[in-house]
Parts: sequence; structure tokens; C-alpha cells
Amino acid sequence: MLTMSDRSERICVVGLGYIGLPTASILAASGFHVVGCDVDEEKIEVLKRRELPIYEPGLRTIFEGAIGADKLSFSTSPPREADAYILCVPTPVSPDGSPNLSYLREAARAVAGVLEKGNLVVVESTIYPGATEEVLFPLLQEQGLEPGKDVFVAHCPERVIPGHIIKELIENDRVIGGYTPECARQAEKIYRSFVEGKIFITDLKTAEMVKLAENTYRMVNIALAMEFALIAEHLGINVWEVITLANRHPRVDILNPGPGMGGHCLPVDPYFLLHVYKDARVTHNALQTNEIMLAHSTGLATSMLSPGEKATILGVAYKGNVDDARNSPGFALGKRLKEKGFEVSYHDPHVKAEGVTNELEKAIRHSHLLVVAADHNEYRLLKPGEVAPLMKARRILDLRRVIDAALWEAEGFEVRLLGASSLK
Ligand SMILES: NC(=O)c1ccc[n+]([C@@H]2O[C@H](COP(=O)([O-])OP(=O)(O)OC[C@H]3O[C@@H](n4cnc5c(N)ncnc54)[C@H](O)[C@@H]3O)[C@@H](O)[C@H]2O)c1
Repeated sequence: MLTMSDRSERICVVGLGYIGLPTASILAASGFHVVGCDVDEEKIEVLKRRELPIYEPGLRTIFEGAIGADKLSFSTSPPREADAYILCVPTPVSPDGSPNLSYLREAARAVAGVLEKGNLVVVESTIYPGATEEVLFPLLQEQGLEPGKDVFVAHCPERVIPGHIIKELIENDRVIGGYTPECARQAEKIYRSFVEGKIFITDLKTAEMVKLAENTYRMVNIALAMEFALIAEHLGINVWEVITLANRHPRVDILNPGPGMGGHCLPVDPYFLLHVYKDARVTHNALQTNEIMLAHSTGLATSMLSPGEKATILGVAYKGNVDDARNSPGFALGKRLKEKGFEVSYHDPHVKAEGVTNELEKAIRHSHLLVVAADHNEYRLLKPGEVAPLMKARRILDLRRVIDAALWEAEGFEVRLLGASSLK
């Protein structure tokens, strides 16, 4: 339970996206005076009107509570009057896989310009081992500030999952890497205000590597499930049955395959490891498997279409029941189908994006093929009898094992499931 004690420290959270906005809100709800800062002026205007640019369960309550208590305000630049600055800006990779730290550099430069002795800077953004020092230290030194002496520096990677961010911010264990033990202790004081999980203290590079190890572990395991799906199709058996039975082993927990890994983290963060260690072969191959799976899913869809026909992608979020469409496998698949000359429409009940409708009827009208690319609950409830009259052909490709194939077949649909050459 969060308690709004009256804390005198002032915190500035830089970057108000999926991570920064919940973090700013929860810190304010814990009693700190928080200024949320973002270069996106429109977003700042939206927030000042007390509107939320993202949906996260539980966020509205703490956001409104914090603003109501006069603890949370917004600005387009970091204020001088703060004791701690927490950086939550994007850290994507460039198309060639190299880290793009330009957002972090810009944010750090703005913060360095207003820092005073005794302040704390925490990087929450995911970065490669060594990057906190590489990016921050020259900027601090330009201002005549010695890291660890004049200014405390820490890295506290974020490990929440969209859809459960508030719950996980509170309940997850945290790792804090300090440039010095005192830097870590200063950061711990802040996180202790709302974290109910354990907090582990370590050095900067170890904390940076921990985050990458976590996401690379998951990425490699999803790639393995994808590889099993390809093998099962080759053998004419059903990968979903294989996984269910294999997971009866007490020490096996195979994840689910799908058309590709999306989101902000899994398809991105492993590239940071490759940046610091080019011979990371398992990581490299798993990233390639993700590409192979997208090509394979495109091939499955193409095999169910005739030239010029229309496919409807159901779900552009990177996974079920979230509104995050970054690195979306659904969009990537649609793009490839368009390049092959097919007409493509996109439907998603959660994602608001150009070219995506949340009106199912509009998306599937005159379509020849439905492609389930995200496992939203809404798609489990689709009724083939209601969908069929809107379509020009009765075909569905399930890339997430969402639908009940027997129901759709009974309605005359040709059904294909990723990872299974037959549905039996
Ligand atoms: N989304 C997740 O599930 C998740 C989970 C764990 C870690 N992370 C990491 O957290 C970091 C932030 O991710 P996110 O998902 O919140 O990103 P996001 O894209 O949702 O939000 C980032 C925000 O930063 C703002 N911004 C960019 N440059 C800025 C600058 N110079 N000054 C101020 N604001 C600036 C953007 O306008 C945007 O509002 C990334 O490093 C990401 O890898 C994300």
C-alpha cells in the first residue's frame, strides 16, 4: 500500500512514457514533490489537462491523487529546484542494430545544466554496460561536477511489464547500481518509498548487465519456442501439444511461439549485448530466428491468399491486451503482405494509431483472410458465424493459438495455426 507521507525531497522524472509517467505518479503518490518533464509539448499539455496519454490499470487513481495533493506537476524542461533526477527516455537501436543513445544524451545534457552539488542522477533507461559512465560523466565534468563526489550517480533498470506496470513497480524486486556505494544508498532511499520488493545494491556495470541478461534470457527462450514451431510444422505435428506436454517436466517451462517479438524491450535490448560483445552467438542467432519467424508467418499468410486479395491483421499490439504497438509483428506482417501486392487492413481494440481501426466490421469487410497476430481477449470471443457474412472468403490464420479452430471449421472456415500443419 502506498502511503502519502509528506516528503520534502523534490524529484524530476525526465521522459514521461510507459515508464516515466507511472514512476513520476507513484513517487508523487508516495509524498515527494515531483516534476514530470518531457520534450513532447503536446504530451505536457495533455497531462496538464489531467488526461492520460497511456492506459495502465491503477495509473489513473494515483495520477489524480498525486495532482489533487499538489505533488505532481509537468514541464517541458528539467527544473533547477530538484534534489534527484530520474531519466526514463527511450534507448532504441538504429536500423543497423547499434545503440541510439541520442535521447539519453539530450536528456542528460539538459539535466547536467541544472544540477547542483549534492544532487542525485538515476538512469532508468535500458542501456549497455558502461553507458551510464560514458554518457553522463563527460557532461557532469563539463559542469565542473565530479561524479560520486559532487553528484551521486546510479542506474536502476526498470523491469515492469506493460499492462501490470503499477503493480510491478510496487511489488518487483529492484537492482540499483551505484557509481559508489553511497550513490546506490542515495538512490535506494527514493525507491524504498514505494518498492515493496527487495532492493539489491551493486555497481553500475553489473546493474546495466542484469537488465540485459533478463531480457535476452526471455528473447532467447521465445526464439527457441519459435524454432520448435518451425520444426513441428516440418514434422507435421502440433507444437502447442509438444509444449504443453514438455512443460509437464518439473524443470521445463517453454514459452509460446508467435509471429515475431515486438515491444520496446525484447527485440531491442539484446543488441546492446552484441554492442559490447560481438561474439554473443546465442543472442545473435535468437535475434535472427525472430526475423525468420516473421518471414515464415508472411509465407503462411501468402499461401492462403490469391493475388490482389485482402488480409485483415487482427492485433497490432506487440502482445495481448496492451496498447503498445512498438516493433509490432502485426504491422511488420501487414507491411510485407502489402509489398507483395495484397490489400491489408488493421484492427486492434486497444491501439490508437494511424491506419488502425477499432471497428471490427470496418476492418474485416470484404476481407479474404483474417490473421490473428496478437492474443487479445476480444479475439477469443469472435463468433465465426457473425464474421463470415462480412468476408469475401472464409479463411483464418491463427499465429497465437487464440481461436477455437473447431468452431471456425464448423462455420466453413479454412483454418491454419502457426506451429501445426494440421489442427488435429
Ligand atoms: N516500456 C516498457 O515496458 C519498458 C520496460 C522496462 C524498461 N524500459 C526502458 O525504459 C526507457 C523508457 O521507455 P518507455 O517505454 O517509457 O519509452 P516511451 O517512448 O514510452 O517514453 C519516452 C518519453 O521520453 C520522452 N523524451 C525523449 N527525449 C527526451 C528528452 N531529451 N527529454 C525529456 N523527455 C524526452 C519522449 O517524448 C517520451 O514521452 C527505455 O530505455 C526502455 O527500454 C521500458
